[in-house]
Amino acid sequence: MNKNLRKAVIAGNWKMNKNRAEAKALVGELAPLIKDAGCDVVICTPFTDLDVALEATKGTNMGVGAQNCHWAKSGAFTGEISADMLTELGVQYVIIGHSERRQYFGETDLTVNQRVRAALDAGLTVILCVGELLEQREQGITREICGMQTRVALGGVSQDEMKKIIVAYEPVWAIGTGKTATAEQAGEVCGFIRSVLADLYDQATADATPIQYGGSMNAANAAELLSQPDVDGGLIGGASLKPADFAAIVAAAGK
Ligand code: PGA
Repeated sequence: MNKNLRKAVIAGNWKMNKNRAEAKALVGELAPLIKDAGCDVVICTPFTDLDVALEATKGTNMGVGAQNCHWAKSGAFTGEISADMLTELGVQYVIIGHSERRQYFGETDLTVNQRVRAALDAGLTVILCVGELLEQREQGITREICGMQTRVALGGVSQDEMKKIIVAYEPVWAIGTGKTATAEQAGEVCGFIRSVLADLYDQATADATPIQYGGSMNAANAAELLSQPDVDGGLIGGASLKPADFAAIVAAAGK
């Protein structure tokens, strides 16, 4: 409906994959394949690959993101990385609240909110992940869960700061499982999340915010998912490690 109000964003989430040499090679293979993209393209690499990715993407149309950041500026937080540390490197994006962080590392809606706050304060663009578990979908509470996660994560985020927010709807049961949501399911929940944004801010803000789908999106199903009026791109795990597949998704988003 209002798709022309926002640009699609295809973001690769490399997760804990690729060493530095492999990262450089993957960017090198990808760059020529996506150089004419009609959408924004981002790769989110492990922390240890960020500087290599930034160097290798120089002069290309690819942005670089991290997969998490801490909420404090510095301090006794062993193993964590602050948002300022990312911007100092030149990183522009950060994924916050990915379901693997929630599932394996005790991330809660409140810590997601704190991390979003810190990322915005540092000037990063946030890819905010929300999504229901399979049991929650079966219980018929997908909207309640996604609505709550969105509302809590955006607590204290101003209307102006929403320009730096991309929401990724990622049903947890579809991540890494090969079990994709149908285009209708993806479109329905992305549309619902947009209505939550309209309620929190206003319709113009909701219409301007990219809402991605993520969860087993691949070269074969991307076009159908992206044809939904409220699906403005994708957060791609497995397929982002395969240059031809990722490029096909980018091409589908640019149409
Ligand atoms: P997948 O991962 O594409 O491998 O399902 C998506 C994600 O976790 O962001």
